[in-house]
Amino acid sequence: MAEVEKELLFSRETILARVRDIAREISSEYAGTEPVLIGVLNGAVFFFSDLVMELNIPAIIDFIRASSYGSQMQSSGSVAFTKDVEVPVEGKHVILVEDIVDTGLTLKKIITSLRKKGPASIRVCALIDKLERREEDIVIDYRGFRIEEGFLVGYGLDFNEQYRTLPHIYTVRG
Ligand code: IMP
Repeated sequence: MAEVEKELLFSRETILARVRDIAREISSEYAGTEPVLIGVLNGAVFFFSDLVMELNIPAIIDFIRASSYGSQMQSSGSVAFTKDVEVPVEGKHVILVEDIVDTGLTLKKIITSLRKKGPASIRVCALIDKLERREEDIVIDYRGFRIEEGFLVGYGLDFNEQYRTLPHIYTVRG
């Protein structure tokens, strides 16, 4: 597959510094509880791992997988769950960990489905809050970075399944 032109946006060091801040915030706000952190696969995998290892409170982890993008750069609007949460979340404090919120359609569907399982609370933690195409009014409780627009790759974010494993985040040019 042809290489795309890309420009460094957030280095791994910059990302990790933000991840540590967020982990500190979560650890203090959830002190005395044992939240369930649910990572949204595949994009959130590195953010999720870095984040949960920085927490200094006990936590339960699980994953959910929702496919919405296929191979395009735009959200299709229809979200299919290909892996659901397996740990019990009833009466638990849940934190959803997402790589990037774009239209917000994916998170909206995940939150709606999770609510049916009766958690005590659901909060959202997203590494990137991308504002340009937001359609759903999603409250992002913990946010890594806010960007206006652009398509990002690296640190879990892909373009046609490429570039996910890069340690830094880049903007795709063009
Ligand atoms: P939404 O439903 O439009 O909010 O889309 C969320 C999902 O789209 C994310 O979890 C990503 O998988 C994907 N996505 C949105 N923007 C980008 C991007 O800039 N780079 C890579 N994936 C993206």
